[in-house]
Amino acid sequence: MRTIESLGDVSGKRVLVRSDFNVPLKDGVITDDGRIRAALPTLELLTSSGAKVIILAHLGRPKGEVKAEFSLAPVAKRLGELASAPVHFATDTIGTSAHETVAALPDGEIALLENVRFDPRETSKDDAERETLAREYAELGDVFVSDGFGVVHRKQASVYDIAKILPSAAGLLVVKEIDSLRKATEDPKRPYAVVLGGSKVSDKLGVIANLLTKADILLIGGGMAYTFLAAQGHPVGTSLLEADQIDTVKGYLDEAATRGVDLVLPVDVVVAPAFDADAPATVVDADAIPADQMGLDIGPKTRELFAEKLASAKTVAWNGPMGVFEFAAFADGTRAVAAALSEGSMFSVIGGGDSAAAVRQLGFDESTFSHISTGGGASLELLEGKVLPGIAVLED
Ligand code: 3PG
Repeated sequence: MRTIESLGDVSGKRVLVRSDFNVPLKDGVITDDGRIRAALPTLELLTSSGAKVIILAHLGRPKGEVKAEFSLAPVAKRLGELASAPVHFATDTIGTSAHETVAALPDGEIALLENVRFDPRETSKDDAERETLAREYAELGDVFVSDGFGVVHRKQASVYDIAKILPSAAGLLVVKEIDSLRKATEDPKRPYAVVLGGSKVSDKLGVIANLLTKADILLIGGGMAYTFLAAQGHPVGTSLLEADQIDTVKGYLDEAATRGVDLVLPVDVVVAPAFDADAPATVVDADAIPADQMGLDIGPKTRELFAEKLASAKTVAWNGPMGVFEFAAFADGTRAVAAALSEGSMFSVIGGGDSAAAVRQLGFDESTFSHISTGGGASLELLEGKVLPGIAVLED
């Protein structure tokens, strides 16, 4: 993969940087600025080298329309507080504001352009449409640095097509993410354990299929665990269930047994009558969930069991929370997995926007994990063994 050094001296050059600033917002306020912080090393490197830095980024999925709630203005403000260089904000991406902002940008300063997804060509499936847009981006820069790791699995104009037009290289974040995730996926020190959670098993089918050929231990929690419990014939009450995936999941259970993969499901769960922060929580065995209750977290016996399994591992990859960690009563499962990794000496990689946010929200010291990925879908696709277009284009 080409790195920033391959671009030569960037002093005085206009460097277009793709960052992933797709941060969670509540009432216009950023609730987790992890992705903005993770972008800083590349931005600092470039500004301190005298480059004019022009950032392309997206927020949410505005579907090709200009929508105020998807504006990057709050991100520009936060970036201005965090970056050591001044940050200017252009109110469009390739229009008058962008061109004027870039033309007036002093060396060593940053311009953030408005949401690239306000233009439908950014995410178009039509190669020619995306390429036309990428050529318009290219008018604003001399070279391109791809540093939005969370979006490198997308074949989009500001990620993929632009890298074919301008001299391009991976930024520091992308290099760090790829190094860590490859270390955890390609030739992991064994035992290799993977913890999967999150709500839907259907989002993780490719990952599970791939991991069954690679991992020694597979721990399943979160909403997806209930489809596994149902596949074993247990009642799951009103828990999340993807009935159409039961046969596929049965296949996974059989394959795990044949291959000798230690696939571990919850043995107890925390249930409640409703999806509510204040719903009364009780613990039941995983094979005895009452008909009117839903599982919202793994139970105490499962937490202990998962922690034991993780303690025996030399490499752990974790994607997806174990329960509804946003509600205090259902956060202990996610906390237990985070604690096992934080206290252990294994190489640990946490991927998935939610698990990374959980670790920060639950107050863990980020430096006690080997790597916390900024990528959700991107880190999952790497776990799945896929080639990511935004990475492949930097290797051509
Ligand atoms: C993410 O949040 O995972 C990335 O920013 C990619 O967003 P997307 O799934 O909308 O492409």
